[in-house]
Amino acid sequence: MNKFFRVEYDEQNIAWLYFDTPHSSTNVLTREALEEFDQQLITIAQVHPKGLVILSAKQNGFIAGADVKAFATIDSPEAAKRLILRAHDIFHRLESLSFPSIALIHGYCLGGGLELALACSYRVASTEPVTRLGFPEVRLGIFPGFGGSVRSTRLLGHLPAMQLMLSARSVSAKTARRLHLVNYAVPRRQLKNAARRLFEERPAPYRPPLAQRLPGNALLRPLTARVLRSQVAKKVRRAHYPAPYALIDHWRRHAGNSAQMYAGEAQQVAALLTGETAQNLIRVFLLQDRLKSLAGESSFQARQVHVIGGGVMGGDIAAWCVLRGLTVTLQDRAPEYLGRAIARAHGLFQRKLKDRYLIQSAMDRLLPDHRGDGVTKADVIIEAIFEDVKAKQELYASLEPRMKPTALLATNTSSIPLQILAEKLENPARLVGLHFFNPVAKMPLVEVVTKPDTSEQLVADAISFTKAIGKLPLPVKSRPGFLVNRVLMPYLLEAVTLLAEGVPASDIDKAATRFGMPMGPVELADTVGLDICLSVAEKLSETLHTPAPENLQQEVKAGHLGKKSGQGFYVWSKGKAQKTASTATPEKLEHFADRMILRLMNESMSCLREGVVEDADLLDAGIIFGTGFAPFHGGPMHYAETTGRDEILSKLRKLEYTYGSRFTPDPGWEDFEKPGGAHE
Ligand code: NAI
Repeated sequence: MNKFFRVEYDEQNIAWLYFDTPHSSTNVLTREALEEFDQQLITIAQVHPKGLVILSAKQNGFIAGADVKAFATIDSPEAAKRLILRAHDIFHRLESLSFPSIALIHGYCLGGGLELALACSYRVASTEPVTRLGFPEVRLGIFPGFGGSVRSTRLLGHLPAMQLMLSARSVSAKTARRLHLVNYAVPRRQLKNAARRLFEERPAPYRPPLAQRLPGNALLRPLTARVLRSQVAKKVRRAHYPAPYALIDHWRRHAGNSAQMYAGEAQQVAALLTGETAQNLIRVFLLQDRLKSLAGESSFQARQVHVIGGGVMGGDIAAWCVLRGLTVTLQDRAPEYLGRAIARAHGLFQRKLKDRYLIQSAMDRLLPDHRGDGVTKADVIIEAIFEDVKAKQELYASLEPRMKPTALLATNTSSIPLQILAEKLENPARLVGLHFFNPVAKMPLVEVVTKPDTSEQLVADAISFTKAIGKLPLPVKSRPGFLVNRVLMPYLLEAVTLLAEGVPASDIDKAATRFGMPMGPVELADTVGLDICLSVAEKLSETLHTPAPENLQQEVKAGHLGKKSGQGFYVWSKGKAQKTASTATPEKLEHFADRMILRLMNESMSCLREGVVEDADLLDAGIIFGTGFAPFHGGPMHYAETTGRDEILSKLRKLEYTYGSRFTPDPGWEDFEKPGGAHE
């Protein structure tokens, strides 16, 4: 029985093999799909057509990659290696068919999907913007394992292929054509004709020029590998992300010898896949999937959005919604407040859309509206005015009678309880929080904030809208700081306390990046703005039982606001913090990291115990996507699980003894599961 594939033969005796995963909008190379693909190849080979075309029956993509869910269940390097070698066999069968094969690509063609395409004789991709080709594997802590490291270096040349795999970036059809990753890049409607043409022309495979082949020469490889390694080292450390380094080592050892390269690939990828880093990164990938699938039952669809407040957040939220295809009216107190937001939006459209017509069409969808005429037509109204209770309450009271009854009313407040904000509404239950993070275009998470009277339907609608604009929704309860700021603040405050103790900022930041944070907390505080940090610290001081630190208050009083004022805890020059080299010993750095990270973890536990988020996985997802918390640790609660409750408690108690009650272990640790899932 064919479940995943169906084949059609046309009058020219071309076999068209459609990949059509049942009950799913996406094709993924599961074990089962791979086996059926193999059977299809055997059957088609017996018919001996003029050529084989592999294409997707799905609207949105060719093949999204290998089955990441299954990666999380592979329990030994041997099992991983068996799976990889089996895929090698199947793709070898495809590659050695006695007639030509073509991958016809529209939409995403990633990871294992691209590796399958590379095993075809030719590739044709559609020039529509949805088409993206790439190897995202290093983001999952592995590298291409279905023959990709061998075939890409052979086809593209060593450096372009290595850079594609090491960067994990995806490219458009046109760039893929330039790289010789595909033979033709054509509009979607011409894909099939281009395939037919290729069967007539049957061009010889592209052979990279000497300059591209030279770096793979045995004498030059060690040098090239050193250069590649130093490029990678600027971005990630081997201890945190071993995959790109393993790929470079693999290439240095085996490039030029296909048999050795296939064997090395299977060996290396199997080892990486079952290692801790890859398993944690796979977990992060699956958490992201979980956030994406939270919507529940909602038919909510927004066409028009009205944003009130064209400042830092409102302006960027409006621009983001436009970028995702919506029409947005943007309101502020007077027209002069809107100019900056519109100019910033133009910059974003230029960066993201590039094409002049697309930019113009986006600008046409962003409508300055200082009188608020858009309120009556909007499906979603997002308020992002000053953080002031009275101003917000008055605004909602004036909006309510004018809004469509079905419209979603959302606030971007970062600290005011929704219960208070909703007080002046006729129907207080209709207010929901959509808490975006700064900078909006870069931060993937939106906290969907609810209060006790929020209906399930409203949550589903808010989640559905958040997903529609390409953000990850995290449902949280309306408590001070919600989840992300509440957990991040103790970590930042501990850094500020370390500064007050005389520890150099560079040492503090080094301690955090050494742990795996993308940016140190002092640099982060300066980047966010010390005034904003102080305001959040003050609002959370009761919840966190910690007053806003004296040194933070002094900096703000002196006008040292961080990056935006040119000085904060660091002096800033040309957008960069002026750091000194850290001289602290590894033991010291570990101690600083412990102080900061344990406060973050302890607060995470409080949030979990209080039910701010539903479970530990959602908490981990929120902290990873909302703060960048070292993804390879799998999130704070997962890290706690790996570390072990007893060790965390013992460290917290020691710190409590030395530094006081801010380290008192949260009572929630008592019920925390130990590794292996056993409750005490
Ligand atoms: P902002 O001060 O940059 O912008 C506020 C804008 O609202 C100003 O342009 C102001 O003219 C306008 N405004 C004030 N009252 C108004 C009214 N009654 N009608 C129309 N427009 C009015 O403030 P920002 O930073 O954009 O913050 C806005 C909201 O977003 C606040 O609730 C804040 O807590 C929240 N937030 C801020 C974040 C940040 O990093 N700045 C992050 C997440 C949330």
